[in-house]
Amino acid sequence: MKHLFKEGSDKSKPTLLLLHGTGGTEEDLLPLADMIDPTASVLGVQGNVSEGGMPRFFRRLEEGVFDEEDLIFRTNELNEFVDQAAKDHGFDRNNVVAIGYSNGANIAASMLFHIANSLKGAILHHPMVPRRGLELPDLTDHPVFIAAGKNDPLCKPEESEELKELLEQGNAKVDLHWEMNGHQLSRAEVEKAAEWYQKNFGWGMK
Ligand code: MLT
Repeated sequence: MKHLFKEGSDKSKPTLLLLHGTGGTEEDLLPLADMIDPTASVLGVQGNVSEGGMPRFFRRLEEGVFDEEDLIFRTNELNEFVDQAAKDHGFDRNNVVAIGYSNGANIAASMLFHIANSLKGAILHHPMVPRRGLELPDLTDHPVFIAAGKNDPLCKPEESEELKELLEQGNAKVDLHWEMNGHQLSRAEVEKAAEWYQKNFGWGMK
């Protein structure tokens, strides 16, 4: 997959897996990584699916309706890519924290839903429920931060609550942060994500 890797100054920190929104690139979320942990290694990935020239991480049938078969295929593809990247770049595969926005948050949530230990934790900006009716892997010690907008027309407040509940049923510790915004990513929510990260993965934490 098209990607960038930036080695961090502190190898004991998680590697931040950056997953962009529809139409983005592997570089889009670099400013977030810098705000969340400037000492961590960064793996930015570009989605392999094109929707009219706009990169995405999986196909959708229409806005908000996912192609489940492709979602599962692409989730495994991304997971295998991260496995290989850990070998190629020498980072700890068991210590990867995803930072995703929108479509990127959805594939990160899908990794948590489908593949045990694929992520150590995740920061999900404006995610949706990737699939329903699944039994999740055990997510004890895999904390998740969700930032959602009370006025997000795409990721409705009820869906953010539902995602939190589903992750909690898998034993994840979930922090849900609300903005009054719509679907856009705000600096304020990234600052909250940075505070959450500091508590969960900062100095002296595992
Ligand atoms: C998706 O398809 O993943 C969601 O609708 C968010 C987006 O527009 O990318």
